[in-house]
Amino acid sequence: MNIEVLEDYETLSNHAAWLIASLVEQKPEAVICIASGHTPLGVLKRLVEMSGRGEVDLHRCRFIGLDEWVGIPPEQEGSCSYFVEEFLLKPLKINREQIFFFDSMAADLEAECRKMDTAIARFGGLDLMLVGIGLNGHIALNEPGTPWNLYAHLSVLDEMTVTVGQKYFTEKTKMTHGITLGLQHLREARLPVLMASGSGKAAVVQQALEGEVTERLPASIFQTLPHGLVLLDEAAANDLNR
Ligand code: PGA
Repeated sequence: MNIEVLEDYETLSNHAAWLIASLVEQKPEAVICIASGHTPLGVLKRLVEMSGRGEVDLHRCRFIGLDEWVGIPPEQEGSCSYFVEEFLLKPLKINREQIFFFDSMAADLEAECRKMDTAIARFGGLDLMLVGIGLNGHIALNEPGTPWNLYAHLSVLDEMTVTVGQKYFTEKTKMTHGITLGLQHLREARLPVLMASGSGKAAVVQQALEGEVTERLPASIFQTLPHGLVLLDEAAANDLNR
């Protein structure tokens, strides 16, 4: 893995947005998966600004959802698709046919997982998979202990994910399960990117990047990805021994 440390959140977001822009310039129909959550928000906003200035054109890309809270409808603030739709896809007026999110309300969630796996395979795999890191080291909703060889699957949410996850909602929300791309997708993505910002993430970032490589800490998978890229701001990189 390569680690790049940028000065602050602003610089980090800009850097990641330009990275995406150059990827899309080389491959206008790139298959892109961008996490929801607070970390990538700046990237989404930068991409919208850059698109307005003609610096990037995302209209031919395909957008794959990373994960969802099971039972939380897409129109509810706090759902993952709401986030990416609201801050990227709607402002850019991306065609519906190019957007593939999990249906978190599907009666058959296993079928929903296979549908997503099939779509990704049919599109030739993910060109970019940009993920964040949870305070418990999770990636997407691959919670601690999840096997790394899984494709899309259902997960039982970790207690910390449920507690921290409340920040995405305006009122207390019951969440028990997730539906998520797996870490096998991350391994196979042409460019897997981990982004982290802020001092709150410093300890888990250090553990993930310099500690034991173990399924108990999903983000430590990045140590095994020669083509993986880790983008941090100074605050998130603070505990690294560099
Ligand atoms: P955050 O979420 O970007 O809102 O901190 C990260 C994550 O839980 O993956």
